[in-house]
Parts: sequence; C-alpha cells; structure tokens
Amino acid sequence: MPDFETHEYDVLVIGAGGAGLRAAVEASSRGLKTGLVCKSLLGKAHTVMAEGGMAAAMGNVWSEDSWQIHFRDTMRGGKMLNNWRMAQIHAQESPDRVAELEEWGALFDRTPDGRISQRDFGGHRYARLAHVGDRTGLEMIRTLQQHAVHQGIDVHQECTINRLFKDDQGRISGAVGYWRESGKAVLFRAKAIILATGGLGKIWSITSNSWEGTGDGHALALHAGADMIDMECVQFHPTGMVWPPSVRGILVTEGVRGDGGTLRNSDGHRFMFDYIPPMFAAETAETEEEADRWYDDKTVRRTPDLLPRDEVARAINSEVKAGRGSPHGGVYLDIATRRDSDYIQRRLPSMYHQFMQLAGVDITSESMEVGPTAHYAMGGVRVEPETAASTVPGLFAAGEVAGGMHGSNRLGGNSLSDLVVFGRRAGIGAADYAQGLDAMPDIDTAAVNERITLMQAPFAGGGKENPYTLHKELQDTMQLNVGIIRTESEMNTALEDIASLRERAANAAVEGNVQYNPGWHLALDLEHMLHVAEAITRGALERKESRGGHTRDDFPGPTEAFGKVNVVGRMTEDGVQVQQEPLPQMPAELAKLFEEA
Ligand code: FUM
Repeated sequence: MPDFETHEYDVLVIGAGGAGLRAAVEASSRGLKTGLVCKSLLGKAHTVMAEGGMAAAMGNVWSEDSWQIHFRDTMRGGKMLNNWRMAQIHAQESPDRVAELEEWGALFDRTPDGRISQRDFGGHRYARLAHVGDRTGLEMIRTLQQHAVHQGIDVHQECTINRLFKDDQGRISGAVGYWRESGKAVLFRAKAIILATGGLGKIWSITSNSWEGTGDGHALALHAGADMIDMECVQFHPTGMVWPPSVRGILVTEGVRGDGGTLRNSDGHRFMFDYIPPMFAAETAETEEEADRWYDDKTVRRTPDLLPRDEVARAINSEVKAGRGSPHGGVYLDIATRRDSDYIQRRLPSMYHQFMQLAGVDITSESMEVGPTAHYAMGGVRVEPETAASTVPGLFAAGEVAGGMHGSNRLGGNSLSDLVVFGRRAGIGAADYAQGLDAMPDIDTAAVNERITLMQAPFAGGGKENPYTLHKELQDTMQLNVGIIRTESEMNTALEDIASLRERAANAAVEGNVQYNPGWHLALDLEHMLHVAEAITRGALERKESRGGHTRDDFPGPTEAFGKVNVVGRMTEDGVQVQQEPLPQMPAELAKLFEEA
C-alpha cells in the first residue's frame, strides 16, 4: 500500500498566480479553511508574463471610456465567440479590482495629476491599461501574495497535483499529487476545488511559458469529466524574442508598441498597413503620417501596429514566409526612433535589461528582432459566469484555465483583470458551495492508492522511453502541425503523432529515485500535455473556419454558423471527443452596442 500524507480543506486552490491567490484570499476571508497549492515557489507564476498592464475602464486618461466600450472591444477582439456575460462582468468589475489592488499596496504608475496611469494596448479603443512599468504582473503577484500570507492561508509550495477525485454522487472530493522535493505522495481532501493552474504553452516549442505551463489544470478538469470549450483557440503573442536560440519565445511586451514601437520588415517597410482587416478599417490609420500623429493626438485613427494580437501575429508570420523577415526568422520592432533613452528605460525597464543581457541588443538605439510565441489559451473549462463553477459539482475554475471570457482571441491586458475579477468570483462561488455541504465528501481510497502506484510506474523498470525526447517530439509536431496556420492534413498528422507518443509515454523510464527528479516530473506532466494537445487538435479540426487565434488555411475566414457555437470537448474512453453546442445568446440591450458602433 503506498504511503501518503493527508490534508483537509473546505476550499483547495490549485495554482498560485493572480487568479489562485485572489480566489484563496476571498475564500479564506469568508472564514473557510483554505489551502493553496503551487507547482513552483510562491511568487513564480505566468502572471508575471502579463507585463504591460491590467485593462480596466477607469477613464483616468480618457474620460470617454466606459465599461460598455471595454465590453465591446473585448467581444470584437474575441471575434464574438466570448461568453457575453463573462465579458460584461469583467468590463464592469475590473476598475474595482484595480482600486482594490492599490488599496492592498500595489504601486501603479501615475498620470501627471496623480491618478493611476493607463497605457495603450492592441484592440483597446482608449488607453486603458493600469501599469507598473513593464512589470505589472509581478506587482500584482507581489501584492496578492503579501495579502494572502497575512490571512492564514496554508500554502503548499513545489507540489504538483496529478488527479482529482469525486465521491459516488459525482461531487469533487479531493486531489492527489506529490511534493517535488521529496517525491512523496500527498492527498488533499476538499469540499470544493478551484483550478487556477494557468496555461499550456509548453506543448509548443516556441512559447513565452516557463516549465510549469503544461496544461495540468486543463487535463485535471478533462479527467474529472468537466466540459472544455474552444480549446482550439490559442494565442500566439506577436512579439517574442527570436534570438539567441536559448531565449527564443520569451515575451516582448505589447507595451513596447503601446508606447511607440513600430514593426518593420527587412525592407524597412511598415508592413502592418498591408494587413488591416475590414472589421478594424474604420478606426485604423491608413498612412504612416496619420499613424505617427496618433501617438500625440488620440483623436485621429490609431496605428495598425496595435491591431489585436491575432492580426499582428498572422501578419508577421506572412512577412517571414514571404522572405521579408529578419536574419533570425522574425521582424524588426523599433522604439528607439520615436522615444529617447530615458523614456524607454523608465517605461520599459525589463525590456531594456532583457535585450541587453540576453541578446546584447541596446533597444534605446537598436531594433529588436521579434516573432510569434505561444502565449495563452483562450479555451478551457466551461464555467458559469457568476460563480466560476464548472459542470462538475464542487469544481471551479478561474484565469487562463477557464474558457469563454476571451472568445477566440484575448486582448492584451485583459488577462490580469480577468484573473482578479474571476479569481474573486471563484472564491465566493467555492466558499458558498462548501458551506452548503454538511460533511467532507467521501474519498475513494482504493482509487487514490491506484493512482499513486501509477504515478511511480516510470521507476518500475521495463520502460525505455526518455520523457525529454517524447516532450521534444510533441512540441515539434504541435509547432509544425497545429501552429498559427492550420490545415486538416497537418492536424491529422499531429493526431497520429500524439497517439503514438501516448503509447510510448506509457513506457517512459526514469533513472534515479523520487527525490527532486525532473525527468520523473516531466514524465507525469507529459500525460497531461498529451491530453491537452489532443483536445486542442480535435477542436481545431472540428472548427472549420478561421476566427481569432484559430486560423485554417483550408477554411480562410469566419463563418456565420461557427460564430454561433462553442466546440465542446469531453473525455471519453476513446480519448477526447468534441461536438458543437450553441453559444449563450447576447441580450438585445448589449447587442445594440455593436449596432451603434
Ligand atoms: O504583452 C504583454 O505585456 C502581455 C500582456 C498580456 O498577455 O496580457
């Protein structure tokens, strides 16, 4: 019988980025015994990769801004696939969440008259991102962490959750995982569980995500029987570093373009003028003169450098494919021409140091080389907008692991606000649910023992597959066959590769023992990544259109029919199966906002 320790909580939060921390603060503030599990060390989360700011219609820079315009921008950015109610709640509640962070100690940059400053970002009609230089996500984490640790939340660091369990009524009852340091198994019994595990970028070879982004929460939810929506919608951030190879994919904040950076190809041409889609034509400058004027006069049409991310990433991809890329397969991003060194170092200190130290490039006098990088999953757990409840009783999801909020393409800056708006709501939803239960749901100890034994299988001997090789092959096939531009035949190749990798992963072998063994950790993460890769690829095959972050060469352009459906993925005995289901209908008073526009 395997040995494991047990902890019990009313609410267990898995993931300690912005959403997890905010959810834990909320549940604990309501008097519930709350546990917070993080895969890494507390404070290290992909939240810090949202560098440029947190979108909220506070109207500090443009008094004309309102939640209605933020809602409209978000829906248009997501190509109308968003869950309208989530987008509405997000636009209405974000300003309060910024104010709350400030109250809890976040030091936002200021306008000359002392209010919280707001910067421009792609797809946002007005300068709307509250920011702390280009380290906004970091400041958010620092603030929430500080608040959380003073509230009596139990924090379990360097602990990876491998499976969720349900009782015989189908209610969530616990989670099993292991301590990364000792390799020992741990069971968390809980009345309610909140998934706040972030993203899944590590299934691609070029990604802004660090090692934790292996889609654990997406896979845990799939196995628990939750509905997943629109997994095919993945954001390739237009600007990641491309050189040197060791740093390829690291994020270059959109704040560079928000603060005046311009994209050019190898001919020195500002190619974004060639890629203005009809949907954004009326509000986008057509000439360099008009675009340049916009930096000082926001009443003229905006620069196409700040079109939504899906448009910019596709444009860069096309330029590189057409042979007009930079020497290392990207394009040029230049801020030095428009801004002086003081301005760049004050507004974008991390970018300055990142390029100087990692690439030997001085961005105050030289252009950066940038290209698309897998950054964010728009698809995820289907949740009820008011409470963040999934379709499994007792299971909640917030932040990147939840689907619906961003439709098929997220606007930059909407992630940080999403984290705290829905992190808080998940905390309330889970607390209310847990308080409604008389007792801790039963745990199936035999199933827990079986899972722990399976987790240790890579040590059993007999296997011969190296988890690092399998991971590399998965990343290669996803990068090649399920990347920015997709076709049916390539995605079918990816599905075959995923199936064969799954068979081989069952034979994964690791050396050494369970203590701090990264090869073993990867072998376990790999199972999650393979399920997530399958869900994304099957969703992408099902959605026979191009929309937002999902672009098909064989079905260019959106269709009316697919604009009305979510692609819903569920785990079955034969793997992930997908089907189309109608999107919730937007009420007439909100639909009117689009007619008026
Ligand atoms: O470009 C960025 O700073 C990233 C922001 C985001 O993903 O929201």
